[in-house]
Amino acid sequence: MSSVPKGDYDGIRAEVKKILKRPGYDDGSIGPVLVRLAWHASGTYSAKEKNGGSNGAGMRFAPESSDGANAGLEFAREFIDPIHAANPWISYADLWTLAGATAVEAMGGPKIPWKPGRTDFASEVAATEYRGNIDNRLPDAALGAQHIRDVFYRMGFNDQEIVALSGAHNLGRCHADRSGFDGPWVVNPIRFSNQYFKLLLTRKWVPRKWDGPFQYEAIVAGTRLMMLPTDIALIEDPVFRPWVEKYAADQALLFKDFAAAFGKLLELGVDRDGTGVAHLVKGGGCPFAAAAGAGAARPANHPPVAAKARL
Ligand code: HEM
Repeated sequence: MSSVPKGDYDGIRAEVKKILKRPGYDDGSIGPVLVRLAWHASGTYSAKEKNGGSNGAGMRFAPESSDGANAGLEFAREFIDPIHAANPWISYADLWTLAGATAVEAMGGPKIPWKPGRTDFASEVAATEYRGNIDNRLPDAALGAQHIRDVFYRMGFNDQEIVALSGAHNLGRCHADRSGFDGPWVVNPIRFSNQYFKLLLTRKWVPRKWDGPFQYEAIVAGTRLMMLPTDIALIEDPVFRPWVEKYAADQALLFKDFAAAFGKLLELGVDRDGTGVAHLVKGGGCPFAAAAGAGAARPANHPPVAAKARL
């Protein structure tokens, strides 16, 4: 692992690319689990409560670190730690999100918009004090369309963005010892494409008969592929389905829309000041940001962030 000069984020991207290939781990790449780390770090955001999101890198500490929804992400955090050890100038929150963006690109996907500036919680005590209550914010794969909307609308996404983001299930697999579900969605799960959407529409997905949670399966080219109940909800829901059809027919459109939606996800709750630094605020929220709306620039009348509120 090399040290790169402070502020050289392209250098960090290069370091991430160096560690992606890992023979013997899953399908030979840690890219998918890095994408899931970036998503779970960011997907706790609430646009209403103005807390959660990637700023702080709270998943290093309980209760996020031991949350069942994050099972398996301890491996992603361990894989990426040596890059932080060699480059302690980068925040974990920036590193995790940049690693997810880089992994998508390196696996053949689109370039993801990404900006630095996130700050880390200094300790578990600080995380507890500053984070606010973000329990149970990640989606439950056993549920349906209404639940998906509840979770993603809370973050500020619309139906089209929900379907575009779900395209990430073209990558990686489910692990019986992590989520309980089992198997990959596509035949080549370390290459980003629109296969997931094509397969959703063209295969007959039947309930798997097994001693595990309810999921769907289809055998494709001799490989047992899977879909979660939430994946199947995308073709059963009349508003989600036309987007599945569009993305199955047009990979360039998926790449454009996925890049925009994933870039937006990584930005949730990252409220930078004029110097580009996203300070941490108690309760995770900023009343000015709440009034101005998600993603709005810090208003001119925003008071200086109190030194004691900075970490
Ligand atoms: C309704 C929304 C979603 C649900 C219910 C869901 C559920 C799941 C589940 C159960 C797993 C398997 C975890 C394991 O056993 O290792 C998984 C894996 C994964 N998810 Fe999602 N997910 C959702 C949305 C997303 C989004 C928005 C992204 C990224 C933009 C994403 C990216 C991934 C990736 C890359 C993996 C594979 C991880 C690996 O191979 O280790 N998911 N998801």
